[in-house]
This record gives sequence, structure tokens and C-alpha cells, in this order.
Amino acid sequence: MPVNVGIIGAGRIGRVHADALCRRISDAHVLAIADVNLEAAQAAAAEYGIPQATSDHTTILSNGAIDAVIICSSTDTHSQFITDAAQAGKHIFCEKPVDFDLGRIDSALAAVNAAGVKLQIGFNRRFDPNHARVRQAIVDGEIGTPHLLHIISRDPAPPPLAYIRVSGGIFLDMTIHDFDMARFLIGSEVEEIYAAAGVRVDPAIGEAGDVDTAIITLKFANGVIGVIDNSRQAVYGYDQRVEVFGSKGSASTGNWYPNAVTISDSNSVRRDLPLNFFMDRYTDSYVAEMQAFIDAVVNDKPSPVPGIEGRIPVVMGLAARQSYIENRPVRLTEFQ
Ligand SMILES: NC(=O)c1ccc[n+]([C@@H]2O[C@H](COP(=O)([O-])OP(=O)(O)OC[C@H]3O[C@@H](n4cnc5c(N)ncnc54)[C@H](O)[C@@H]3O)[C@@H](O)[C@H]2O)c1
Repeated sequence: MPVNVGIIGAGRIGRVHADALCRRISDAHVLAIADVNLEAAQAAAAEYGIPQATSDHTTILSNGAIDAVIICSSTDTHSQFITDAAQAGKHIFCEKPVDFDLGRIDSALAAVNAAGVKLQIGFNRRFDPNHARVRQAIVDGEIGTPHLLHIISRDPAPPPLAYIRVSGGIFLDMTIHDFDMARFLIGSEVEEIYAAAGVRVDPAIGEAGDVDTAIITLKFANGVIGVIDNSRQAVYGYDQRVEVFGSKGSASTGNWYPNAVTISDSNSVRRDLPLNFFMDRYTDSYVAEMQAFIDAVVNDKPSPVPGIEGRIPVVMGLAARQSYIENRPVRLTEFQ
């Protein structure tokens, strides 16, 4: 039986998921898409062949034919929409981050537990085949005991200031993916975080109350030491690299390119720039995470990225922000 789905939010990521669900996943039917910006909902409905477009997300929640909702609206709506969807008996896929406030996250997760519905958080990078292979190398002992983790995660250009103002800041908006990747790869919890950060790209980002450049040091419970390197602007494109170094070797993955050509002449040896941003670089991972969600619903399997996996990176983001503000290492227990 196909899963009937409603999508809330027809912005950048809502359209990525609409594309996967409508064109690339056979056992899902998207019945409706909602956005407070009705024109955005209508445009997405027309593009992906979705029968209903609405400006009111409650139309989706009250539709008895809909089994599951995909929450892709702005972050400030997520925890309330999770609660509302759970109370309406819908299975839920929700984009990261769940919320900036741990109390609101806990209320939303309690509503999910009470309703007995599935909740999957949108940490798509776990479904990237390269990152998954690095994890497999660690699980299979190919690199021995992990000692060090390096994550380089730089965007090609900053988002609009209007987005930055409501994003929760770089640690909760951008680094949150890297916090999830760090836990996923090492398979151990981070106990302490130290963040050094500054405004190196655009003073307007500082005036909006955020930073655009950061190094975050992680100390894991199993002894691994990690570092995350973030920038809001890598002029050569989306820079996504990972290395785990261990007692028997290392596992690493680099950037993805539109082609593999090397051009050599009398002046230089060169190649084209890497894929520019997440819609290109992580295309397959968005389809894979959505396929996993639909599989979990169809076959009544546990969510591959349940709600608690959405909460812990928020704790890490809050700790990183505190560390930056107070210029000291912060233990995660300060935020539990
Ligand atoms: N997993 C990823 O790689 C990834 C990538 C991008 C964004 N995101 C997350 O997805 C969310 C959306 O980001 P985006 O880049 O698509 O933003 P966006 O601004 O492009 O789209 C958000 C959409 O939500 C709509 N919206 C806002 N409030 C609403 C409401 N009450 N009801 C219905 N629609 C509402 C807006 O009108 C807008 O069209 C954010 O939480 C962001 O952190 C995740």
C-alpha cells in the first residue's frame, strides 16, 4: 500500500523533498502541499503534479487520507507542527533543527511517544554513500581504534540576512549537521565542546548577531578528539570533507565534482570547481533518507533517525554557542 503524504513548506528543502517523493519514490503519493505563501505552494503543486495546494497546514493535518507529513517549513514552526501532527495521528518527517529550545523539543518528542507515531529527523548526510562508507570502515575495524576526527564543512555563500536573523545562529543552523555527522561517524557521545569563532566573511552577519567562521573542538566519551571547521563562504563551492584517523589508518572522503577531468597545459594542472551547494552535492542522500522514512512507515520499522537524534545536536549547538560567548570549554551536561 502506498503511503499518502502531505508536505508543509514549499521553500528550498520542501521542493527537494517534493521532487524525491513525486518523481523518485514509487510507494509514496503526495496528496497536498501547504505554505503560508500560497503562491509557493501552488507553484510546487503545479511543478510536481500534487493535487492540492493550500495556505493552511491544518488542511493537511485534518485530512484522514494522509498517513504522513513532511515538515519543511521554517525552524520556528517545527516543534509545534510535530506536536500537532502527532496528535492528528500522522507519521512525521521533520527537517533539522527540531527547535532551539530543549523544553519545546521535549514536549514535541513526548507528543510523538504518546501518539505512537514515527518521527524521522532530516539528517540527510548519514545517507550519503561516502559518509556511510567512512562509518562502515570504523564499524568494521578497517582503521583500528579511531583517534581523531576532522570535518570541514563550508557553504559557498552566506544565506540572506533575513534567514540568518531567525536561523538560531551558525551552530544551530549549519554546524548542527556536522554535530550529527560527528556522533554518527564516531558512534560515541561528545562530552565537551570548545568553540573559537568570529566574523571573517561579512560584518553584516556580525551586526545580525551571528558569526560566520568557526573551529569547534569536540571531546568524545570514548577518547576521540574531533574538530569541525565551518565557514559561511568558500568561494570555490560547497566544501564537504571528512577524515577519521585511527590506529590502523584513516578513512576520508572529499568533495564531489560535476566531472573528473584534469586539464594540464604549460601554465598549470587544473580541474573544474566542486558541486556548488547542498541541492547538488547531497541530492541522492535526500532521496535515500526519504525512501528510508517511507520504508519505515510501510514496513512498520523503527525510524532510522528518531527524535532523540534531533535533540542531542541541539544540545551540542547550545554548548558551542555558550563556549564561544564565554571563551571556555563547555560540558554538555550543563545543558541536559
Ligand atoms: N537538511 C538539509 O540539508 C536542509 C537544507 C535546507 C534547509 N533545511 C531546513 O529546512 C527548513 C526550511 O528551510 P528552507 O531553506 O527550505 O527555507 P525556505 O525559507 O526556503 O522555505 C521555508 C518555507 O516555509 C514556509 N512557511 C513558514 N511558516 C509556515 C507555516 N506556518 N506554514 C506553512 N509554511 C510555512 C515559508 O513560506 C517558506 O516557503 C529549515 O528548518 C532549515 O533549517 C534543511
